[in-house]
Amino acid sequence: MAEVVIVRDEEEAGRLASAQIAAVVGQKPDAVLGFATGSTPLSTYRALAERRLDLSAVRGFALDEYIGLPPGHPESYRAVITREVVEPLGLDPDLVRVPGDDGGPLAQAGESYERAIAEAGGVDLQILGIGRTGHIGFNEPGSSLASPTRIKTLTERTRLDNARFFDSLDDVPRHCITQGLGTILRARRLVLLAFGEAKAEAVAGAVEGPVTSSLPGSVIQLHPEVMVIVDEAAASRL
Ligand code: GLP
Repeated sequence: MAEVVIVRDEEEAGRLASAQIAAVVGQKPDAVLGFATGSTPLSTYRALAERRLDLSAVRGFALDEYIGLPPGHPESYRAVITREVVEPLGLDPDLVRVPGDDGGPLAQAGESYERAIAEAGGVDLQILGIGRTGHIGFNEPGSSLASPTRIKTLTERTRLDNARFFDSLDDVPRHCITQGLGTILRARRLVLLAFGEAKAEAVAGAVEGPVTSSLPGSVIQLHPEVMVIVDEAAASRL
């Protein structure tokens, strides 16, 4: 059963999540961290930056990436991770990977990402947000519970939710490459964050509902080391 912590606001959540990360890195300076994008983890990254730890040996793997954005697009997850994580935290950019960034054929990018994670010794701590569809990473409803990193099609609802980061809905990519649910479950520890009423249903399903591919976040129930950090609104259906 996941440990659920209800906090006052995003800043308190960020402090708590960053303490989890700091503890892992304190034990292992070259820890492997799994980074989520989206707005949810931003307070965690800010709080971690405020701790001014030496994170130069930390290795990182992003959860997911859009397919089809022009190189250098500011909303590509590579650009977001560089801006919100690598630069403020002083990570070594060469040690931080994003799915599909190996320059090889896209069809093999999933397999090559899995290999890279395994060669790094696996992810020590994975930060997760959750989408309103219950998706984690970009594993939309219907994703196999054991899925590896692979190419997926985004649902209309997720494209609409993410349109706020783009000039128009038409600019939101239709495809992505994401770590699978199986990949996420192999991380040694998961920290899932969610804020606001819009996430309440997804949080309740993830924490208390049946484990089902209809609500991909529910796979966290299969993991022995999970902390769920939510505000009152996101916890309102628990
Ligand atoms: C995005 C990302 C997910 C993220 C989720 C929630 O589409 N691919 O990794 O957790 O949707 O986003 P937000 O944190 O902005 O609400």
